[in-house]
Order: sequence, then C-alpha cells, then structure tokens
Amino acid sequence: MKSTPVCCIHPSILSADFANLQSELDRIGAADAVHVDVMDNHFVPNLTLGLPVVERIQQVSALPLDVHLMISNVDRWAPSYAAVGAASVTFHAEASDAPIKLARELRQQGSRAGLALRPATAVEPYLDMLPELDMLLIMTVEPGFGGQTFLDVTLPKIRRARKAIDAAGTPVVIQVDGGITTETIGRAAEAGASIFVAGSAVYGAPDASRAIGELRAAGQRGLAK
Ligand code: DX5
Ligand code: ZN
Repeated sequence: MKSTPVCCIHPSILSADFANLQSELDRIGAADAVHVDVMDNHFVPNLTLGLPVVERIQQVSALPLDVHLMISNVDRWAPSYAAVGAASVTFHAEASDAPIKLARELRQQGSRAGLALRPATAVEPYLDMLPELDMLLIMTVEPGFGGQTFLDVTLPKIRRARKAIDAAGTPVVIQVDGGITTETIGRAAEAGASIFVAGSAVYGAPDASRAIGELRAAGQRGLAK
C-alpha cells in the first residue's frame, strides 16, 4: 500500500509587509519553507524583488527558500538564485528556451529544480523530462498577483500529472500556487498536489501560525482521501 504524502505549507511573502520582511518571516516559523515570488514586469504584469533581496532573505531566514521565478530570460538568471543558496528554484516552462539544460544547472548548483506551468499550459509536453525535475508547480491562478480565486479548471491537469509521475516512478512532488485556502486545499491535495503555496490565506490572517496549522490539517485530510 502507498503511504500518504506529507502536506507541506509554503507561505508566499508576496502578501507580506515588504517594509518589515524580517518580522514577517518570524510570523511563519510553523511553515515548511518560505515561497519567494520574483516578478520582472515582463513575464507577468507585476514587479516584486530580485537577486540581492533574495540573497539577503536567504541569509536571515530560518526556513528554506522556495524561489518562484516569474521572469523572462530565465535561462540567464535562474542559476544565480540557486547559487545564493535557495533550496529550490522554480522557473516557468513558457519562459525557458532550454528547460532540461536549466534544470541540470540548478541541480549542479545544489538547488532542487522546479518547472512551473501557467493554468492553460499543458503538462504532456514536459512529461519526458520528469526525471530532470524535483518539483512540478501547477499554477492554480494566472501568475502575477496574490488574492485571486482558485481555478478548479486546473484540477484535471494535476490529476494527469500525478498519474504520470506515479507511472514514471520518479519522486517529483507537485506544488500548487494561487487561491489556496482551507476551502480549496483539499481538492488540490486529493488531485495529487502535496506542496501548497498560500499568500493571502496566511499573511491575511490575524494569526499566521494558526492559519498554517489549519491549512496543513485540511491539506492532510485531502491527501488521505
Ligand atoms: C502569484 C504568486 C503566488 C501568490 C499566491 O503569481 O505566484 O505565490 O503569492 O497568492 P494567494 O495565495 O493569495 O493566491
Ligand atoms: Zn508563487
């Protein structure tokens, strides 16, 4: 019998107070990693932070860094994020010219390699490269902004990815990002995701630790189904 995967919660600091990042990191000590959204106002219509800030967060964070690059020209920039010590670096399939080469570079730098797909990008063209990856990020909103509504239309893709990963026997984990709440997390977990990014559901809550605990419990229930 297959064992139930562990539910991991990665709060996104996109919804944090950017003027007080240190104390905002302290609020999420109960999480498994901190999700850092890098946006370049080109791949997505929003601008956040870049390498020097990520490097500094890496230095002060007690949690591992899960970097989500929503940038163009990602083949050029992603390895630098691995080099500053991010535990995982995720780049978008739509932004990479050479995803296999890039995933190998990230792993060589000592980081886990993640491939992200926008909601309308099919997973099938990327299934053969699963052994090159540690994580598949299936976006459950259009990337660019926090606080959007979870797109249930992405659930069949999560299920198909899960099946393909199980059939391939590779230890790739599925991450979902966007609109994750205690109401939606169970559906994503049941479909096959086990890492959940949550921005507004954690940072918008009065007690972030409690919000993380509630998400974890709801996610674990979905994984057990
Ligand atoms: C959106 C970002 C997400 C965002 C999620 O492009 O990748 O990480 O912070 O925010 P919520 O959880 O509020 O949808
Ligand atoms: Zn993200």
